[in-house]
Amino acid sequence: MFVDLRDRTGIVQVAIGPGAPPEVRRVAGADLASESVVEVEGPVTARPAKMKNPELATGDIEVQATKLAVVGPAATPAIPVARGKGEELPAEELRLKYRHLDLRRPEMQANLMLRHRLLQRARRTLSELEFVEIETPILTKPTPEGARDYLVPSRVHPGEFYALPQSPQIYKQLLMVAGFDRYFQIARCFRDEDLRNDRQPEFTQIDLEASFVGMDDVLGYVEAVLVDLWDEGGHTIARPFPRMTWREAMERYGTDKPDLRYDLPIVDWTAQVKPLGVPFFESALRDGARVRGLAVKGGGALSRKDVDQLADAAKQLGGAGLAWVKRQGEQISGSVGKHFTAEALGGIGVGDGDVGLMTVGPDRVTSPVLHRVRQEVIQRLGVKPKIAHAFTWVVDFPLFEPDPETGKPVFAHHPFTAPHPDDVARLETDPFSCRALHYDAVDNGNELGSGSIRITDPAVQRRVFAHLGLSSVEIDARFGFLLNGLQAGAPPHGGFAIGFDRTTMLLAGAGSLRDVIAFPKTTTARALFEGAPSPANPADLAELHLEVKP
Ligand code: AMO
Repeated sequence: MFVDLRDRTGIVQVAIGPGAPPEVRRVAGADLASESVVEVEGPVTARPAKMKNPELATGDIEVQATKLAVVGPAATPAIPVARGKGEELPAEELRLKYRHLDLRRPEMQANLMLRHRLLQRARRTLSELEFVEIETPILTKPTPEGARDYLVPSRVHPGEFYALPQSPQIYKQLLMVAGFDRYFQIARCFRDEDLRNDRQPEFTQIDLEASFVGMDDVLGYVEAVLVDLWDEGGHTIARPFPRMTWREAMERYGTDKPDLRYDLPIVDWTAQVKPLGVPFFESALRDGARVRGLAVKGGGALSRKDVDQLADAAKQLGGAGLAWVKRQGEQISGSVGKHFTAEALGGIGVGDGDVGLMTVGPDRVTSPVLHRVRQEVIQRLGVKPKIAHAFTWVVDFPLFEPDPETGKPVFAHHPFTAPHPDDVARLETDPFSCRALHYDAVDNGNELGSGSIRITDPAVQRRVFAHLGLSSVEIDARFGFLLNGLQAGAPPHGGFAIGFDRTTMLLAGAGSLRDVIAFPKTTTARALFEGAPSPANPADLAELHLEVKP
């Protein structure tokens, strides 16, 4: 009889042969069941040549059991614990519900081991750079990071609430005021926001802050950490990372998270297309809109159906649609093909076998459309990436963005971000033209993290809060503790937070944050394993001075 014995390091075969002690044979025959916990003793021997299994790291050996005891009998497992890649997984809902079994799968074990190694590595790198690890509170006041807060009612102070931190932002700034110079924390953050595969309601950041620094210093620290993390994950990446301004990212890639593994920039074709008199573009061009597009090398391989689907996707995003032109030898076809000559196509970089895809309208509409089309085209054509990991910094973000409902300026990052010194004078008069000292790290089109140089002048910080519509009473109630801190003598400082779950997900090659978090939430913010959230019992509610209204 053979038993596959599994622990976190892998699987080894236990052999119970005819010569095994009778007690071992009895236990093996009567008590052993799949997924039970056993203790085995016996010599490790080489397997006979024809029994070797080259698929298994331990395939040349086996353990000849001389003692065998079932120490933790297992009920029939609710979901199968698949043994390796290629085996079909149970539905994710079941995997999350029976997480203790799902976590026994070698892939999940490997993901969490990787997570552990990455954490240790980040701690080591930052400690070597003389950052000090300091914990900040979980029961705290709201920190604006753009999401809703999770609130915790106070029992001893009726009607009052703590908020769980959306990030340690204010505390880390106060630690700079307190003179710690360089802080880091593996920080748990809580945000009540719409969830996706790359967002969880509670998640982890590698959070850091440093005093007497400018942007270049902070980017240097973060690069040091990312290079080491990628090294731990088995990838060599070069630093310094390239930098691009937010404006350039939006212009060339239609997004502030460009995927630079592929050459396929968005290009402004207004000048080339205007003289052609294409009816589809005419009225928008008269209104001053631009025609922008993608010259897709080898795009001739896209079928008519592909192009139609791309056009549909463009329309879903509110765009005017997608015009296209295709060149094969002398033949020019496509929805706007008849307006193009070979020379005009040459002017926009569309050669033999290529396709030009273009749209017209205001940038705020065409940028997301062309970003989406670019991604789709890359996927549909199966374009091979130039490199495995393409990092970039995106810098010079705008300080404000228009509120989608009111159009009024709201903070693009958080309200502690310093305005670009050249733009401070226009804060009130032309807020949308102001840049921020805010930077993001992007890898393969994923936002890995974000940071900024902070406002240290309490008067400027007040002006910014007031700009957001807070009265001075509200400012003091919500942020008085920060303003007091800044008044006490604040060193210039700035920092960054790396999304640690995202980093681990990318390095593990996982498709969801749930695969690198031991006990994650679903996209509806439920914990299926422990069954949270759940109704509170009336006595607890009464103690908290709360009443649930149906
Ligand atoms: P920001 O809000 O950009 O910045 O967050 C930094 C990084 O954290 C990750 N992240 C998330 N990961 C999983 N689930 C979520 N819901 C989630 N939200 C954010 C992302 C993101 O880039 N205090 C500032 C940092 C600073 O200015 O120093 C902050 O929190 O990878």
